[in-house]
Amino acid sequence: MPSAIVILTGAGISAESGIATFRDPDGIWSKVDYREVATPQGFAANPARVHQFYNWRRNNVRGFEPNAAHAALARLERDFAGEFLLVTQNVDSLHERAGSQRLIHMHGQHDKALCNACGGRTIWHDEMSLASRCPCCEEVGQMRPDVVWFGETPYELDRIQAALRGCDLFVSIGTSGNVYPAAGFVREARAAGARTVELNLEPSQGADLFHEAEHGPATGIVPAFVERLLGA
Ligand code: OAD
Repeated sequence: MPSAIVILTGAGISAESGIATFRDPDGIWSKVDYREVATPQGFAANPARVHQFYNWRRNNVRGFEPNAAHAALARLERDFAGEFLLVTQNVDSLHERAGSQRLIHMHGQHDKALCNACGGRTIWHDEMSLASRCPCCEEVGQMRPDVVWFGETPYELDRIQAALRGCDLFVSIGTSGNVYPAAGFVREARAAGARTVELNLEPSQGADLFHEAEHGPATGIVPAFVERLLGA
């Protein structure tokens, strides 16, 4: 039984809840140019287009429910006696809705806004536009989705890296391993001596960096993995 676990999740864990992944054949980046909607340059060039994209995503994910894989990770957090940290690249809120608490959204959250004027981060469920007013500093026209874009620094990297240095089990779930720094976490965990496991539909970009792998839909392989871990 490990004494400290770090789990990394990506879009694949929410796929069976109905939320599209990014890089699968029908994924979001096959339909939308990420440079237009997920970079600071895209926002500077056409903020209305970026607001339209995230307003659509915020509305779209509202109807989806956590699945058995989210529930299994919430159970692992609850029933595992050691150190535990769940790091997600996902901007949906399915992990917390399943009951996860020791959770970092390293790429931000759809249902939060960030003010470019004062840096305030606030819960945001409504449409966002160039006319939106910051509830902290009251500036108009400075609100953006609280989502980390390409070229920006993910949240809470110091805390994540400290957990990686101290873990003896690292599990990566439903991520293609294309986006750094998350794709490099397996190396950091290995350097700390952790056992590393990939649970994904198919081998990821960095599959050969893991000690072990299981391939299949998350709702099957994640609950089974948690069951074995807690039963061990
Ligand atoms: P990707 O779309 O790149 O990868 C999703 C992974 O999930 C793929 O390896 C799929 O094979 C796998 N997958 C699909 N369905 C699955 C299922 N039912 N069960 C298990 N695995 C499944 O998504 P991420 O790796 O999360 O960042 O992408 C990382 C970041 O790139 C995102 O956070 C986002 C994106 O651009 C930003 O927007 C900043």
